[in-house]
Amino acid sequence: MATNRTFTMIKPDAVENGHIGAILEKITAAGFKIVAMKLTQMTKRDAEEFYGIHKERPFFGELVSFMTRGPIVAAVLEKENAVDDFRTLIGATNPEEAAEGTIRKLFATSIGENAVHGSDSDENAAIEAAFHFAGREMF
Ligand code: RTP
Ligand code: MG
Repeated sequence: MATNRTFTMIKPDAVENGHIGAILEKITAAGFKIVAMKLTQMTKRDAEEFYGIHKERPFFGELVSFMTRGPIVAAVLEKENAVDDFRTLIGATNPEEAAEGTIRKLFATSIGENAVHGSDSDENAAIEAAFHFAGREMF
C-alpha cells in the first residue's frame, strides 16, 4: 500500500450513537478519499490481534469487549500525508484533551470509548488495512 494511505474504524460507540454520517462528512471535508469501506463486527480474536500491542495494558480487556460489542465501520483513506493528517483530524486519545473541532472532541464520550481509530504509522496502516480488506476491496 502506498504511504499516502491510512486505516480507520468508526468504533462501536459512534455507530451506536448514530454518528457514522457526520464522521464520514468530516473525513471527506478534510480532503480524504475513501478507497475501501465496510460495516463489520470484530470477533474477540480479531480485536485481541488488532490491538495486540496493548495486551499487557490494564485496559486491554475493556478495550477488547468495547471493540467487539457492536458493528464498526472500517475504511481505508487516501490523502497526501494521510497518517499524520488523520491523527490531527481525530484529536487526542482522551476527548477531554482533544482540540476543538476534532472528531474525538465532537463525538467521543471517554478515553476508552473514543469514536474513531487512526493508524499511527505507514507500516501499521498497511497491516491494519490488510487485516480488514482483501486486495480487490481496496480501490
Ligand atoms: P487508536 O489506536 O484506537 O487510534 O487510539 P490511540 O492511538 O489514540 O490510542 P492507543 O494508545 O493506541 O490506545 C488504543 C485504544 O485503547 C483505548 N484506551 N483506553 N482506559 C484507558 O486508559 C485507555 N487508554 C486507551 C482507547 O479506545 C484507545 O483508542
Ligand atoms: Mg493507537
